[in-house]
This record gives sequence, C-alpha cells and structure tokens, in this order.
Amino acid sequence: MTAQIINGKEIAAKKKVEIAEHVATLKSQGVTPGLAVILVGSNHASRTYVTNKEKTCKDLGMYSLLIEMPEEVSEEDLLAKIEELNGDPAIHGILVQLPLPKHIDERKVIETISPVKDVDGFHPINIGRMMTGQNTFLPCTPYGIMVLLEETGISIAGKNVVVVGRSNIVGKPVGQLFLNQHATVTYCHSRTKDLKLHTKQADILVAAVGIPNFIKADHVKEGAVVIDVGINRNEDGKLCGDVAFDEVSEKAGYITPVPKGVGPMTITMLMYNTLKSAEQSLT
Ligand code: GUN
Repeated sequence: MTAQIINGKEIAAKKKVEIAEHVATLKSQGVTPGLAVILVGSNHASRTYVTNKEKTCKDLGMYSLLIEMPEEVSEEDLLAKIEELNGDPAIHGILVQLPLPKHIDERKVIETISPVKDVDGFHPINIGRMMTGQNTFLPCTPYGIMVLLEETGISIAGKNVVVVGRSNIVGKPVGQLFLNQHATVTYCHSRTKDLKLHTKQADILVAAVGIPNFIKADHVKEGAVVIDVGINRNEDGKLCGDVAFDEVSEKAGYITPVPKGVGPMTITMLMYNTLKSAEQSLT
C-alpha cells in the first residue's frame, strides 16, 4: 500500500481563512484579538517559532505583541510581566515560549498565566477541564492533530490509538483527546518493553519522541494512520520527523509528512484559541 499524504499545510490554510473571517467580524464589533508572546533568551529554534507566530497573527488581522527578555531575567520580573498582561484588556492570549532558562520554574510561570488567557492550554485548570471533557483551550499540537484527522475524514471511536512519547505538551494530551473521542489508547515511552508489539496494534499511530526516523516500517500495521509530530534535523541538517517516511509511507494508509504535516496546524490552533478567547471576552 502507498499511503495517502495528509497535507497539513493545505488544511491549515483552509482553517486560517475561516479564522481570518471571524477576526474581521470581531473587529467590526470593536474587538481585535491580541496575542502576547514572551521570548526569554536567544534560543535559535524558539526565535524562529516566535517569528512565525507573530507573522501569522498579523496575516490573520490579529494584534501581536512580542516581549523579549534577556536570558538572565529574574523569575520575579518574568512573573510580574505575566501579571501585567493578565490585566491588559488588549491581550486575549499569553504564550511564554518554552523551554525557559534553568533558573526559572516553568510550572510557576505556566500557573501565573490567567487560565482565561492560557491559549497554549498548559495551565493545570485547563488540563483538568480537557481531561473531564469540558470546553477549554486545548493544547495546540494535539488539537491540530485532531483537526487533521477530522478534515481527512478519519473516524476515531473504537480505534486502537498508540502514542509513542509522553511529554506534557504533546504525548499526554493527545492521548487524552483520542480517549475523549472514544478511542482505546496506549501510551508507549522510553521504558516500554517490546515497543513493536504495541505499535503494530495501532490503527492510528502518533510518533512524538523527538528522535529522527525512530519509527520504521516494521513498527507499523499495514494500512495504519501514521501521525508524525517530530521536528528533527538528520545528519545532513535536513528537516525530518520521528518516522522513517520513505519506508513507512509504503505500508501506511495515511501519513503526515515533515515538513507540511502537523507543524502548520500548531500555529493555526494557537490562532484559533486566541480568537476564541477574544470572543469569550465579549460575553
Ligand atoms: N515550545 C515548543 N512548543 C511549544 C508550545 O506549543 N508552546 C510553548 N509555549 N512553547 C513551546
């Protein structure tokens, strides 16, 4: 079987058109959705992500505020900036780009962001709401994966979903979203014994481990849906995912490429969450 490619770039573009239309409506009612992004230090990858977020905000007609802080900024100053943004009516979403320098407690930072402006969906209150299936801000990458599947017409209820990776940002929440949609979910990670035994059962396999080309054809069931969350560089410096695309795409039914797969959906769902927050500020 040769897999059908799930084109995340195309699906993201469609969603962004819808979001821009809603932004225009809100603006006609006097509200411009505003996203504040805090970048601490000069991590190269973080800067690229943040620049992309700023550009997308502007493209969709939203207000974007970039706050840059030096690597040595104190935790106290960072928390004070977040508190200031919590009280700023022009800001509907606050995102602190991770990772943060070692001297700053990431948990404290996340918990200082007001849950009503937590467009990353990382605050424990919003995580709790997600776990109990309530309306909330869903974390952007997991949410983007669910939208990709929905737009591709792939059903989830009753499917065996295997998530490889258990990060707080992707692995754990994406498994929860699949469970909320009635899938049978298995989490695999670095201590899993006989990984293939599990991954070969997957109707939908999510790879979120951060190791280039980790998932090979012999991990995958014929016809499975393979979602690759990895953004890695191979030995030649070329962008690649966690899935060995060439061999797995010969066996899978559907596959997301890297780039142009999950990546474009992450920013799109961030924009969606910011729009939703601005809409909620009206009620
Ligand atoms: N670093 C890598 N991914 C993310 C993300 O989704 N949100 C934030 N805040 N930082 C990140």
